[in-house]
Amino acid sequence: MRDPRHDILFEPMRIGPVEAKNRFYQVPHCNGGGYRDPSAAAEMRRIKSEGGWGVIFTEQTELHHTSEITPFIELRLWDDADIPMLARMSGAMHEYGALAGIQLAYSGINGPNLYSKEVPRGPSALPIRSFTNDPVQARAMDRQDIRDLRRWHRNAFKRAKIAGFDLVCLYGAHGFGIIQHFLSTATNQRSDEYGGTLENRSRLMRELVAEAKDTIGDTCGITLRLSLDEMIGELGFANSEVRDLIEMHADLPDLWDLAHGAWEDCSGPSRFKEEAAQENLVHGIKKLTSKPVVGVGRFTSPDVMVRMIRSGTLDFIGCARPSIADPFLPKKVEEGRIEDIRECIGCNICITGDMTMSISRCTQNPTFMEEWRKGWHPERMQAKGSSESVLIVGSGPAGLEAARALGLRGYKVALAEATTQLGGRVARECRLPGLAAWGRVRDYRAHQLNRMANVDIYFDSRLSADDVLSFGFENIALATGSTWRRDGVARAHVVAMASDGTLPIFTPDDLMAGNIPTGRIVLFDDDHYYMGGVLAELLVAHGAKVTLVTPSAYVSDWTRNTLEQGAIHRRLAGLGVDIDLNRMVTKIEAGGVATACTYTGRGLDLDADALVSVTSRRPQDDVWRALKERSAEWADNGIRGIQVIGDAEAPGPIAWATYAGHRYARELDEADIGDALPFRREVTALA
Ligand SMILES: Cc1cc2nc3c(=O)[nH]c(=O)nc-3n(C[C@H](O)[C@H](O)[C@H](O)COP(=O)(O)O)c2cc1C
Ligand code: SF4
Repeated sequence: MRDPRHDILFEPMRIGPVEAKNRFYQVPHCNGGGYRDPSAAAEMRRIKSEGGWGVIFTEQTELHHTSEITPFIELRLWDDADIPMLARMSGAMHEYGALAGIQLAYSGINGPNLYSKEVPRGPSALPIRSFTNDPVQARAMDRQDIRDLRRWHRNAFKRAKIAGFDLVCLYGAHGFGIIQHFLSTATNQRSDEYGGTLENRSRLMRELVAEAKDTIGDTCGITLRLSLDEMIGELGFANSEVRDLIEMHADLPDLWDLAHGAWEDCSGPSRFKEEAAQENLVHGIKKLTSKPVVGVGRFTSPDVMVRMIRSGTLDFIGCARPSIADPFLPKKVEEGRIEDIRECIGCNICITGDMTMSISRCTQNPTFMEEWRKGWHPERMQAKGSSESVLIVGSGPAGLEAARALGLRGYKVALAEATTQLGGRVARECRLPGLAAWGRVRDYRAHQLNRMANVDIYFDSRLSADDVLSFGFENIALATGSTWRRDGVARAHVVAMASDGTLPIFTPDDLMAGNIPTGRIVLFDDDHYYMGGVLAELLVAHGAKVTLVTPSAYVSDWTRNTLEQGAIHRRLAGLGVDIDLNRMVTKIEAGGVATACTYTGRGLDLDADALVSVTSRRPQDDVWRALKERSAEWADNGIRGIQVIGDAEAPGPIAWATYAGHRYARELDEADIGDALPFRREVTALA
């Protein structure tokens, strides 16, 4: 039963000529699949339709080949050939009654055109601004270029309609869309009627929206996506000017879609941004227009959503990540199953699929982008197979997810945990600075398991190989996690770091156990993800003077893929951490460490009272290896199979562990596919 306080979220809302069945609005988000994996992307959107979203958008869709963002893989609407793939997408979105939206992008100075080899065009002759700093400049568009651009838009509008979309969003946010490039004085240095005053800088926007309405506005709602603030002060398109623009064009689009800043501002991770972080920037804008407003802010709490509506801040609740972590979020609110919502933890792993041009994952929802590839549904599991019982050893993210998913399949599951609490690494890491929301990985699963009569949890149960062999379970999954190495072996050092044994060496496990050194600390980060930076924060909070040494050119290098590297560097610098890049620790000795530049080898001695070594992890797989040695005894003990999963198999990010747990649960008792490919894919048709 729905809580009546949430009724307002289910009011139908008009967007121009169309009506959304409720206020749940999945804003555009990419998925790493795009034009390469159109059926996988379409099926992912179909699941969201089933999950009750009123509006579902594609990711950004390149509307013309003269502006494309290779190597990133989004959607394309370059010509008619792209229509069938997009029609499949809109059909999937419609299946359970959502409005289907397409976001059209002309990337201007964000599109290096590495594939099409066209010369990029922008309002002014400026370098391309992309994640890869491509050594390419745009040429300034003349009046004919602008006429061409308007015609290309008109063509794309018609194609979008033919492809079955109800909503067309013009992309002018995140520094990615040409509308913003024209609006912002940072990128528009023109002196003609398209530059100078706000009236002039918004001319292109007005023309494009008006033409969209003329071309397809009788059946399609036209929305405009802008950033609430470009975040470069008065030099750019600041919040005050955004408000002026909306006041000037109050009823121009059918809906104002208000994103924020650059992508890293808009999709800020929970380490740096709370839920509803943009509330102040968006509040009051609704009074400037009679058209509906959608805003974002990692909304996972229906009470916060209701507050955003009741306070007159938003009309639609925009969600990207919350819809990835739980495609059934609206349905769960509708059915009053708030406790069942799988809340986004704000880790931004979903973004890494796009940044690495692979395919997206989600820490909380391992089925994301596997809906078509593997036929995985986020809420349903197939019935159990021929065996009955499963013992899972270890309740970290892999063990918890395996237990939950196997419980849903109907197996009799025993979850043995060596300590007195669930969660493994998640329970430890969520106590680190900024990572509290990561505890949701445990909390969601613990809640689900507690309600399953067929799942038993045993604490204080550190099992040996003998225990496992004697307990009588048919299937065993070893999810025993990993421990951080103390010897420094990772990438820079392939053998143990040289040490005379006098300087204390700490690992992340020591610090997470509360054994935190003070004084002068050298933190050596050869892991390159979040842990080094987070521990530097922890050490500072405990009064240490920290020097972070890393062989990389960036602090927490891989977090460039989670869009938080800049924020991490800023925070550490602000906390007074000395950041020493392109440098490795070469020797550990009394009173400090010797280091060397990774390029020149030039040495530098650093005084220290202790070294914190954040390098790599060792699988905790002793029980697995012991059991493998005794595989001849398995059958006699009624065991059909034993598998090692998650960090115990090979340490990785938490999302890799939940995926491993889910995969184990999906594949148990299924037919062996031998050498066949374990997922579907689409192969390019030959011309
Ligand atoms: C994986 C991912 C891909 C995104 N891709 C797009 C995109 O193609 N176009 C766009 O306008 N915004 C994109 N965004 C930004 C989101 O639309 C949204 O504004 C932002 O994530 C904040 O909303 P949230 O807190 O609900 O995630 C993307 C966000 C994510 C997480
Ligand atoms: S990967 Fe992380 S940030 Fe992205 S949707 Fe999943 S839980 Fe949220």
